[in-house]
Amino acid sequence: MTWQPDSWRSFPIRQVPEYPNLDRLNAVEKIIATRPPLVFAGEAQNLRDRLGAVSHGEAFLLQGGDCAESFVEFSANNIRDSFKVILQMAVVLTYGASMPVIKVGRLAGQFAKPRSAPTEVIDGIELPSYRGDMINGPAFTEDDRTPDPRRLLRVYEQSSATLNLLRAFAQGGLADLNKVHSWVADFLIGTPQTQRFELLAERIEESLNFMKACGITSANAKPLAETELFTSHEALLLGYEEALTRRDTITEEQGWYDTSAHMLWIGDRTRQLDGAHVEYMRGISNPIGLKCGPSLEPDELLRLIDVLNPENQAGRLTLIVRMGAEKVRSGLPPLLRAVQGHGSDVVWCCDPMHGNTIKAGSGYKTRRVDDVIAEVTGFFDSHDEVGTYPGGVHYEMTGQDVTECVGGVVEVTEESLGDRYHTHCDPRLNGAQALELAFLLADLLRRRRGTPSYMSKAV
Ligand code: PEP
Ligand code: CO
Repeated sequence: MTWQPDSWRSFPIRQVPEYPNLDRLNAVEKIIATRPPLVFAGEAQNLRDRLGAVSHGEAFLLQGGDCAESFVEFSANNIRDSFKVILQMAVVLTYGASMPVIKVGRLAGQFAKPRSAPTEVIDGIELPSYRGDMINGPAFTEDDRTPDPRRLLRVYEQSSATLNLLRAFAQGGLADLNKVHSWVADFLIGTPQTQRFELLAERIEESLNFMKACGITSANAKPLAETELFTSHEALLLGYEEALTRRDTITEEQGWYDTSAHMLWIGDRTRQLDGAHVEYMRGISNPIGLKCGPSLEPDELLRLIDVLNPENQAGRLTLIVRMGAEKVRSGLPPLLRAVQGHGSDVVWCCDPMHGNTIKAGSGYKTRRVDDVIAEVTGFFDSHDEVGTYPGGVHYEMTGQDVTECVGGVVEVTEESLGDRYHTHCDPRLNGAQALELAFLLADLLRRRRGTPSYMSKAV
Protein backbone atom coordinates (compact mmCIF):
# COMPACT_ATOMS: atom_id res chain seq x y z
CA MET A 1 0.00 0.00 0.00
CA THR A 2 2.93 2.37 -0.47
CA TRP A 3 1.88 5.64 -1.99
CA GLN A 4 3.83 7.84 -4.37
CA PRO A 5 2.67 10.93 -6.27
CA ASP A 6 2.56 8.70 -9.38
CA SER A 7 1.20 5.47 -7.88
CA TRP A 8 -2.25 6.33 -9.34
CA ARG A 9 -0.82 5.53 -12.78
CA SER A 10 -1.19 1.77 -12.25
CA PHE A 11 -4.86 1.99 -11.24
CA PRO A 12 -7.92 1.94 -13.50
CA ILE A 13 -8.83 5.50 -14.43
CA ARG A 14 -11.92 7.26 -15.81
CA GLN A 15 -12.42 10.55 -17.61
CA VAL A 16 -9.01 10.59 -19.32
CA PRO A 17 -8.66 12.73 -22.43
CA GLU A 18 -7.13 11.10 -25.50
CA TYR A 19 -4.01 13.10 -26.25
CA PRO A 20 -2.71 12.51 -29.76
CA ASN A 21 0.89 12.63 -28.56
CA LEU A 22 1.74 11.35 -25.08
CA ASP A 23 5.41 12.38 -25.31
CA ARG A 24 4.33 15.99 -25.60
CA LEU A 25 2.03 15.60 -22.61
CA ASN A 26 4.87 14.11 -20.56
CA ALA A 27 7.20 16.90 -21.61
CA VAL A 28 4.72 19.55 -20.42
CA GLU A 29 4.13 17.73 -17.12
CA LYS A 30 7.91 17.72 -16.59
CA ILE A 31 8.03 21.50 -17.10
CA ILE A 32 5.21 22.03 -14.59
CA ALA A 33 7.04 19.84 -12.10
CA THR A 34 9.87 22.41 -12.13
CA ARG A 35 7.54 25.40 -11.53
CA PRO A 36 7.08 26.89 -8.05
CA PRO A 37 4.13 25.65 -5.99
CA LEU A 38 0.98 27.77 -6.15
CA VAL A 39 0.11 27.35 -2.49
CA PHE A 40 2.13 26.56 0.58
CA ALA A 41 1.62 23.46 2.75
CA GLY A 42 1.14 25.63 5.84
CA GLU A 43 -1.84 27.33 4.21
CA ALA A 44 -3.45 23.98 3.39
CA GLN A 45 -2.93 22.96 7.00
CA ASN A 46 -4.62 26.16 8.14
CA LEU A 47 -7.62 25.33 5.99
CA ARG A 48 -7.67 21.83 7.46
CA ASP A 49 -7.75 23.35 10.94
CA ARG A 50 -10.58 25.71 9.95
CA LEU A 51 -12.54 22.80 8.49
CA GLY A 52 -11.89 20.86 11.68
CA ALA A 53 -13.79 23.64 13.47
CA VAL A 54 -16.59 23.27 10.90
CA SER A 55 -16.82 19.53 11.53
CA HIS A 56 -17.34 20.32 15.23
CA GLY A 57 -20.13 22.79 14.50
CA GLU A 58 -18.07 25.88 15.33
CA ALA A 59 -17.85 27.43 11.85
CA PHE A 60 -19.55 27.27 8.44
CA LEU A 61 -18.03 26.50 5.04
CA LEU A 62 -18.86 28.60 1.99
CA GLN A 63 -17.41 27.10 -1.18
CA GLY A 64 -18.23 28.61 -4.54
CA GLY A 65 -17.22 29.95 -7.89
CA ASP A 66 -17.26 29.00 -11.52
CA CYS A 67 -18.30 25.62 -12.83
CA ALA A 68 -15.32 25.96 -15.15
CA GLU A 69 -12.90 28.85 -15.36
CA SER A 70 -12.01 29.75 -18.92
CA PHE A 71 -9.24 31.43 -20.86
CA VAL A 72 -11.53 33.97 -22.56
CA GLU A 73 -13.24 35.09 -19.34
CA PHE A 74 -9.91 35.67 -17.60
CA SER A 75 -9.85 39.28 -16.44
CA ALA A 76 -9.19 41.30 -13.32
CA ASN A 77 -12.81 42.48 -13.26
CA ASN A 78 -14.19 38.95 -13.30
CA ILE A 79 -11.89 37.87 -10.50
CA ARG A 80 -12.79 40.99 -8.50
CA ASP A 81 -16.53 40.41 -8.96
CA SER A 82 -16.30 36.74 -7.93
CA PHE A 83 -14.30 37.78 -4.90
CA LYS A 84 -16.84 40.47 -3.99
CA VAL A 85 -19.84 38.16 -4.22
CA ILE A 86 -18.10 35.60 -2.00
CA LEU A 87 -17.34 38.37 0.51
CA GLN A 88 -20.94 39.56 0.43
CA MET A 89 -22.32 36.09 1.00
CA ALA A 90 -19.80 35.43 3.74
CA VAL A 91 -20.64 38.63 5.62
CA VAL A 92 -24.37 37.87 5.43
CA LEU A 93 -23.67 34.42 6.87
CA THR A 94 -21.22 35.60 9.51
CA TYR A 95 -23.58 38.30 10.73
CA GLY A 96 -26.68 36.15 10.44
CA ALA A 97 -25.26 33.02 12.02
CA SER A 98 -22.75 34.64 14.41
CA MET A 99 -20.11 32.20 13.31
CA PRO A 100 -16.83 32.28 11.41
CA VAL A 101 -17.36 31.53 7.73
CA ILE A 102 -14.57 29.67 5.94
CA LYS A 103 -14.35 30.90 2.35
CA VAL A 104 -13.14 28.52 -0.34
CA GLY A 105 -13.30 29.55 -4.01
CA ARG A 106 -13.79 27.28 -7.01
CA LEU A 107 -11.11 29.48 -8.45
CA ALA A 108 -7.50 29.61 -9.62
CA GLY A 109 -7.42 26.05 -10.98
CA GLN A 110 -10.98 24.88 -11.75
CA PHE A 111 -10.45 24.17 -15.46
CA ALA A 112 -11.05 20.43 -16.07
CA LYS A 113 -14.52 18.94 -16.45
CA PRO A 114 -15.79 15.36 -16.25
CA ARG A 115 -18.25 14.56 -19.05
CA SER A 116 -21.06 12.04 -19.29
CA ALA A 117 -20.06 11.10 -22.86
CA PRO A 118 -16.53 11.09 -24.36
CA THR A 119 -17.75 12.41 -27.71
CA GLU A 120 -20.44 14.71 -29.05
CA VAL A 121 -22.27 14.32 -32.36
CA ILE A 122 -23.67 17.35 -34.22
CA ASP A 123 -25.16 16.98 -37.71
CA GLY A 124 -23.54 13.56 -38.12
CA ILE A 125 -20.07 14.82 -37.14
CA GLU A 126 -18.48 13.21 -34.07
CA LEU A 127 -15.82 15.05 -32.08
CA PRO A 128 -14.38 14.68 -28.55
CA SER A 129 -16.53 16.36 -25.90
CA TYR A 130 -15.32 19.66 -24.49
CA ARG A 131 -13.55 18.79 -21.23
CA GLY A 132 -12.65 22.25 -19.98
CA ASP A 133 -10.01 24.75 -21.16
CA MET A 134 -7.31 22.73 -19.42
CA ILE A 135 -7.82 20.01 -22.01
CA ASN A 136 -9.44 21.29 -25.20
CA GLY A 137 -11.50 24.17 -26.59
CA PRO A 138 -15.28 24.59 -26.62
CA ALA A 139 -15.74 25.31 -30.37
CA PHE A 140 -17.11 22.36 -32.32
CA THR A 141 -14.08 22.00 -34.60
CA GLU A 142 -11.49 19.25 -34.80
CA ASP A 143 -8.76 21.74 -34.01
CA ASP A 144 -10.39 23.05 -30.84
CA ARG A 145 -11.61 19.70 -29.57
CA THR A 146 -8.27 17.90 -29.89
CA PRO A 147 -6.64 17.77 -26.44
CA ASP A 148 -3.56 20.01 -26.35
CA PRO A 149 -1.05 19.63 -23.48
CA ARG A 150 0.17 23.22 -23.84
CA ARG A 151 -3.11 24.20 -22.20
CA LEU A 152 -1.75 22.84 -18.90
CA LEU A 153 0.92 25.51 -18.86
CA ARG A 154 -1.66 28.16 -19.56
CA VAL A 155 -3.77 26.87 -16.66
CA TYR A 156 -0.75 27.05 -14.38
CA GLU A 157 -0.05 30.62 -15.45
CA GLN A 158 -3.69 31.77 -15.20
CA SER A 159 -4.08 30.10 -11.82
CA SER A 160 -0.97 31.76 -10.50
CA ALA A 161 -2.06 35.23 -11.72
CA THR A 162 -5.56 34.69 -10.32
CA LEU A 163 -4.22 33.60 -6.97
CA ASN A 164 -1.89 36.57 -6.88
CA LEU A 165 -4.79 38.98 -7.35
CA LEU A 166 -6.98 37.14 -4.83
CA ARG A 167 -4.22 37.40 -2.25
CA ALA A 168 -3.91 41.12 -3.00
CA PHE A 169 -7.66 41.62 -2.63
CA ALA A 170 -7.78 39.61 0.60
CA GLN A 171 -4.93 41.47 2.25
CA GLY A 172 -4.64 44.75 0.41
CA GLY A 173 -7.78 46.58 1.57
CA LEU A 174 -10.73 45.43 -0.56
CA ALA A 175 -11.83 42.96 2.11
CA ASP A 176 -11.74 45.59 4.88
CA LEU A 177 -15.10 45.49 6.66
CA ASN A 178 -15.22 49.29 6.41
CA LYS A 179 -15.59 48.81 2.66
CA VAL A 180 -18.64 46.58 2.96
CA HIS A 181 -20.71 48.98 0.81
CA SER A 182 -18.24 48.71 -2.05
CA TRP A 183 -18.69 44.94 -2.32
CA VAL A 184 -21.96 45.42 -4.17
CA ALA A 185 -21.42 44.74 -7.88
CA ASP A 186 -21.89 47.80 -10.11
CA PHE A 187 -24.95 46.36 -11.83
CA LEU A 188 -26.67 45.84 -8.47
CA ILE A 189 -26.03 49.22 -6.83
CA GLY A 190 -29.31 50.78 -5.71
CA THR A 191 -31.49 47.91 -7.00
CA PRO A 192 -34.19 46.22 -4.89
CA GLN A 193 -32.12 43.02 -4.84
CA THR A 194 -29.51 44.65 -2.66
CA GLN A 195 -31.83 46.46 -0.25
CA ARG A 196 -31.39 43.78 2.38
CA PHE A 197 -27.66 43.85 1.92
CA GLU A 198 -27.54 47.65 2.26
CA LEU A 199 -29.46 47.39 5.53
CA LEU A 200 -27.00 44.82 6.79
CA ALA A 201 -24.09 46.99 5.67
CA GLU A 202 -25.52 49.89 7.71
CA ARG A 203 -25.66 47.70 10.81
CA ILE A 204 -22.10 46.59 10.29
CA GLU A 205 -21.06 50.20 9.89
CA GLU A 206 -22.75 51.06 13.17
CA SER A 207 -20.95 48.23 14.93
CA LEU A 208 -17.64 49.35 13.43
CA ASN A 209 -18.22 52.90 14.64
CA PHE A 210 -18.91 51.61 18.11
CA MET A 211 -15.74 49.51 18.02
CA LYS A 212 -13.76 52.48 16.73
CA ALA A 213 -14.96 54.51 19.68
CA CYS A 214 -13.61 51.72 21.86
CA GLY A 215 -10.26 51.87 20.08
CA ILE A 216 -10.61 48.84 17.79
CA THR A 217 -10.02 49.73 14.14
CA SER A 218 -8.74 48.03 11.00
CA ALA A 219 -5.39 49.63 11.69
CA ASN A 220 -4.96 47.66 14.90
CA ALA A 221 -7.25 44.66 14.38
CA LYS A 222 -6.24 42.50 11.42
CA PRO A 223 -9.49 40.49 11.24
CA LEU A 224 -11.34 43.72 10.39
CA ALA A 225 -8.93 44.68 7.64
CA GLU A 226 -8.15 41.36 5.99
CA THR A 227 -9.74 38.10 5.09
CA GLU A 228 -8.72 34.56 4.19
CA LEU A 229 -9.85 33.07 0.90
CA PHE A 230 -8.73 29.55 0.06
CA THR A 231 -8.75 27.94 -3.40
CA SER A 232 -10.10 24.60 -4.57
CA HIS A 233 -10.87 22.59 -7.68
CA GLU A 234 -11.74 19.09 -8.79
CA ALA A 235 -8.59 16.95 -8.99
CA LEU A 236 -9.48 15.44 -12.34
CA LEU A 237 -6.40 15.63 -14.54
CA LEU A 238 -4.03 13.72 -12.31
CA GLY A 239 -0.89 14.29 -14.42
CA TYR A 240 -1.16 18.01 -13.67
CA GLU A 241 -1.87 17.41 -9.97
CA GLU A 242 1.06 15.00 -9.72
CA ALA A 243 3.40 17.57 -11.29
CA LEU A 244 2.48 20.03 -8.52
CA THR A 245 2.68 17.49 -5.70
CA ARG A 246 5.56 18.41 -3.45
CA ARG A 247 6.91 17.17 -0.16
CA ASP A 248 6.45 19.65 2.64
CA THR A 249 9.93 20.26 4.00
CA ILE A 250 9.15 23.19 6.26
CA THR A 251 6.50 22.13 8.74
CA GLU A 252 6.92 19.17 11.05
CA GLU A 253 4.46 17.01 9.21
CA GLN A 254 6.68 16.41 6.12
CA GLY A 255 3.72 15.08 4.14
CA TRP A 256 3.00 15.32 0.42
CA TYR A 257 0.86 18.26 -0.64
CA ASP A 258 -0.85 18.99 -3.91
CA THR A 259 0.26 22.59 -4.22
CA SER A 260 -2.11 23.43 -7.11
CA ALA A 261 -4.78 24.49 -4.56
CA HIS A 262 -5.50 24.44 -0.85
CA MET A 263 -8.34 21.97 -1.21
CA LEU A 264 -9.04 19.38 -3.92
CA TRP A 265 -12.09 17.24 -4.41
CA ILE A 266 -12.98 13.93 -6.05
CA GLY A 267 -15.87 14.22 -8.52
CA ASP A 268 -18.96 12.05 -8.45
CA ARG A 269 -17.84 10.24 -11.62
CA THR A 270 -14.33 9.37 -10.43
CA ARG A 271 -14.87 8.16 -6.86
CA GLN A 272 -14.33 4.40 -7.49
CA LEU A 273 -12.67 2.75 -4.48
CA ASP A 274 -10.17 0.90 -6.67
CA GLY A 275 -9.68 3.81 -9.08
CA ALA A 276 -6.79 6.15 -9.81
CA HIS A 277 -8.44 9.27 -8.37
CA VAL A 278 -9.04 7.76 -4.94
CA GLU A 279 -5.49 6.37 -4.99
CA TYR A 280 -3.98 9.78 -5.72
CA MET A 281 -6.12 11.66 -3.22
CA ARG A 282 -5.51 9.29 -0.32
CA GLY A 283 -1.82 10.20 -0.33
CA ILE A 284 -1.92 13.97 -0.30
CA SER A 285 -2.23 15.79 3.01
CA ASN A 286 -4.44 18.67 1.81
CA PRO A 287 -8.00 18.88 3.04
CA ILE A 288 -10.04 17.02 0.43
CA GLY A 289 -13.65 16.77 -0.67
CA LEU A 290 -15.65 13.82 -1.94
CA LYS A 291 -18.75 14.39 -4.03
CA CYS A 292 -21.61 12.18 -2.86
CA GLY A 293 -24.26 11.65 -5.52
CA PRO A 294 -27.49 9.66 -5.30
CA SER A 295 -25.86 6.37 -6.36
CA LEU A 296 -23.47 6.30 -3.39
CA GLU A 297 -24.43 3.56 -0.93
CA PRO A 298 -23.73 4.02 2.81
CA ASP A 299 -21.35 1.00 2.90
CA GLU A 300 -19.32 2.27 0.00
CA LEU A 301 -19.10 5.69 1.62
CA LEU A 302 -17.73 4.17 4.82
CA ARG A 303 -15.07 2.28 2.87
CA LEU A 304 -14.12 5.46 1.04
CA ILE A 305 -13.86 7.30 4.36
CA ASP A 306 -11.55 4.60 5.72
CA VAL A 307 -9.26 4.93 2.70
CA LEU A 308 -9.33 8.71 2.46
CA ASN A 309 -9.16 9.57 6.14
CA PRO A 310 -7.80 6.50 7.96
CA GLU A 311 -6.71 8.52 10.98
CA ASN A 312 -10.08 10.25 11.29
CA GLN A 313 -8.42 13.64 11.26
CA ALA A 314 -10.85 16.53 11.76
CA GLY A 315 -11.01 18.82 8.71
CA ARG A 316 -9.36 16.34 6.36
CA LEU A 317 -12.53 15.16 4.62
CA THR A 318 -15.53 17.14 3.43
CA LEU A 319 -18.47 15.18 2.07
CA ILE A 320 -20.10 17.28 -0.63
CA VAL A 321 -23.61 15.97 -1.06
CA ARG A 322 -25.30 16.52 -4.45
CA MET A 323 -28.41 14.39 -4.49
CA GLY A 324 -30.89 16.70 -6.20
CA ALA A 325 -33.91 18.35 -4.57
CA GLU A 326 -36.08 15.29 -5.09
CA LYS A 327 -33.72 12.74 -3.56
CA VAL A 328 -32.01 14.58 -0.74
CA ARG A 329 -34.66 13.88 1.92
CA SER A 330 -34.63 10.13 1.29
CA GLY A 331 -30.99 9.71 0.21
CA LEU A 332 -29.11 11.79 2.76
CA PRO A 333 -30.34 10.54 6.18
CA PRO A 334 -29.03 6.96 5.61
CA LEU A 335 -25.57 8.39 4.78
CA LEU A 336 -25.66 10.67 7.83
CA ARG A 337 -26.61 7.78 10.10
CA ALA A 338 -23.94 5.47 8.69
CA VAL A 339 -21.18 8.06 9.09
CA GLN A 340 -22.41 8.98 12.56
CA GLY A 341 -22.43 5.30 13.57
CA HIS A 342 -18.91 4.90 12.16
CA GLY A 343 -17.71 7.74 14.42
CA SER A 344 -16.17 9.64 11.51
CA ASP A 345 -15.21 13.26 11.87
CA VAL A 346 -16.31 14.85 8.58
CA VAL A 347 -17.65 18.12 7.26
CA TRP A 348 -21.06 17.78 5.61
CA CYS A 349 -21.47 20.23 2.78
CA CYS A 350 -24.45 20.71 0.42
CA ASP A 351 -23.93 21.14 -3.33
CA PRO A 352 -27.47 21.99 -4.48
CA MET A 353 -26.34 22.54 -8.07
CA HIS A 354 -25.20 19.28 -9.67
CA GLY A 355 -28.27 17.18 -8.90
CA ASN A 356 -30.61 19.88 -10.22
CA THR A 357 -29.51 20.48 -13.80
CA ILE A 358 -32.33 20.44 -16.34
CA LYS A 359 -32.78 21.29 -19.99
CA ALA A 360 -35.08 24.25 -20.65
CA GLY A 361 -37.53 24.11 -23.55
CA SER A 362 -35.24 26.51 -25.40
CA GLY A 363 -32.41 23.94 -25.18
CA TYR A 364 -30.34 25.77 -22.55
CA LYS A 365 -28.95 23.75 -19.66
CA THR A 366 -30.33 25.45 -16.55
CA ARG A 367 -31.20 25.10 -12.87
CA ARG A 368 -34.19 26.45 -10.98
CA VAL A 369 -33.41 28.61 -7.97
CA ASP A 370 -36.44 26.96 -6.31
CA ASP A 371 -34.81 23.52 -6.68
CA VAL A 372 -31.57 24.87 -5.26
CA ILE A 373 -33.50 26.22 -2.26
CA ALA A 374 -35.42 22.95 -1.88
CA GLU A 375 -32.21 20.93 -1.79
CA VAL A 376 -30.56 23.23 0.77
CA THR A 377 -33.67 23.09 2.95
CA GLY A 378 -33.82 19.29 2.61
CA PHE A 379 -30.15 19.10 3.57
CA PHE A 380 -30.74 21.14 6.74
CA ASP A 381 -33.87 19.18 7.67
CA SER A 382 -32.05 15.86 7.20
CA HIS A 383 -29.35 16.99 9.62
CA ASP A 384 -31.98 18.08 12.14
CA GLU A 385 -33.60 14.66 11.84
CA VAL A 386 -30.37 12.74 12.50
CA GLY A 387 -28.73 15.20 14.89
CA THR A 388 -25.70 16.00 12.75
CA TYR A 389 -24.30 19.37 11.68
CA PRO A 390 -24.97 20.91 8.25
CA GLY A 391 -21.50 22.38 7.85
CA GLY A 392 -21.49 24.18 4.55
CA VAL A 393 -22.63 24.87 1.02
CA HIS A 394 -21.01 24.54 -2.39
CA TYR A 395 -22.33 26.79 -5.17
CA GLU A 396 -21.62 27.44 -8.81
CA MET A 397 -21.94 31.20 -9.05
CA THR A 398 -20.45 34.31 -10.54
CA GLY A 399 -20.41 37.98 -9.62
CA GLN A 400 -21.67 38.80 -13.12
CA ASP A 401 -25.20 39.63 -14.21
CA VAL A 402 -25.70 36.38 -16.13
CA THR A 403 -28.99 34.68 -16.99
CA GLU A 404 -28.18 31.00 -16.57
CA CYS A 405 -30.36 29.79 -13.65
CA VAL A 406 -34.10 30.49 -13.67
CA GLY A 407 -35.96 32.13 -10.78
CA GLY A 408 -34.87 34.52 -8.08
CA VAL A 409 -36.38 37.69 -6.68
CA VAL A 410 -35.93 39.55 -9.95
CA GLU A 411 -36.86 36.60 -12.01
CA VAL A 412 -34.78 35.11 -14.77
CA THR A 413 -37.28 33.22 -16.93
CA GLU A 414 -36.79 30.37 -19.40
CA GLU A 415 -37.41 32.91 -22.16
CA SER A 416 -34.68 35.27 -20.93
CA LEU A 417 -31.98 32.58 -20.53
CA GLY A 418 -30.46 33.54 -23.89
CA ASP A 419 -29.88 37.19 -22.84
CA ARG A 420 -26.60 36.68 -21.00
CA TYR A 421 -25.86 32.95 -21.00
CA HIS A 422 -22.05 32.93 -20.78
CA THR A 423 -21.05 29.77 -18.92
CA HIS A 424 -18.63 27.35 -20.52
CA CYS A 425 -20.15 24.47 -18.68
CA ASP A 426 -22.91 24.37 -16.05
CA PRO A 427 -25.37 27.25 -15.34
CA ARG A 428 -24.25 29.50 -12.49
CA LEU A 429 -26.20 31.61 -10.02
CA ASN A 430 -25.80 35.29 -10.81
CA GLY A 431 -24.66 37.83 -8.21
CA ALA A 432 -28.21 38.65 -7.08
CA GLN A 433 -29.35 35.01 -6.87
CA ALA A 434 -26.23 34.08 -4.89
CA LEU A 435 -26.90 36.85 -2.38
CA GLU A 436 -30.52 35.82 -2.04
CA LEU A 437 -29.39 32.30 -1.16
CA ALA A 438 -26.98 33.64 1.43
CA PHE A 439 -29.87 35.37 3.24
CA LEU A 440 -31.88 32.17 3.13
CA LEU A 441 -28.97 30.24 4.59
CA ALA A 442 -28.40 32.82 7.30
CA ASP A 443 -32.02 32.30 8.32
CA LEU A 444 -31.66 28.51 8.29
CA LEU A 445 -28.58 28.75 10.49
CA ARG A 446 -30.32 31.12 12.87
CA ARG A 447 -33.31 28.82 13.07
CA ARG A 448 -31.00 25.98 14.16
CA ARG A 449 -29.65 28.22 16.90
CA GLY A 450 -33.17 29.08 17.95
CA THR A 451 -32.62 32.76 17.01
CA PRO A 452 -35.42 34.44 15.08
CA SER A 453 -34.86 35.41 11.46
CA TYR A 454 -33.32 38.88 11.65
CA MET A 455 -33.48 39.49 7.96
CA SER A 456 -37.18 39.00 7.41
CA LYS A 457 -37.85 41.29 10.37
CA ALA A 458 -35.55 43.96 9.05
CA VAL A 459 -37.18 44.31 5.64
C1 PEP B 1 -18.60 19.95 -10.51
O1 PEP B 1 -18.52 20.21 -9.32
O2 PEP B 1 -18.42 20.81 -11.40
C2 PEP B 1 -19.01 18.59 -10.92
C3 PEP B 1 -18.82 18.13 -12.14
O3 PEP B 1 -19.63 17.95 -9.93
P1 PEP B 1 -20.03 16.39 -9.75
O4 PEP B 1 -18.74 15.63 -9.78
O5 PEP B 1 -20.68 16.40 -8.41
O6 PEP B 1 -20.96 16.05 -10.86
CO1 CO C 1 -20.48 22.06 -12.63
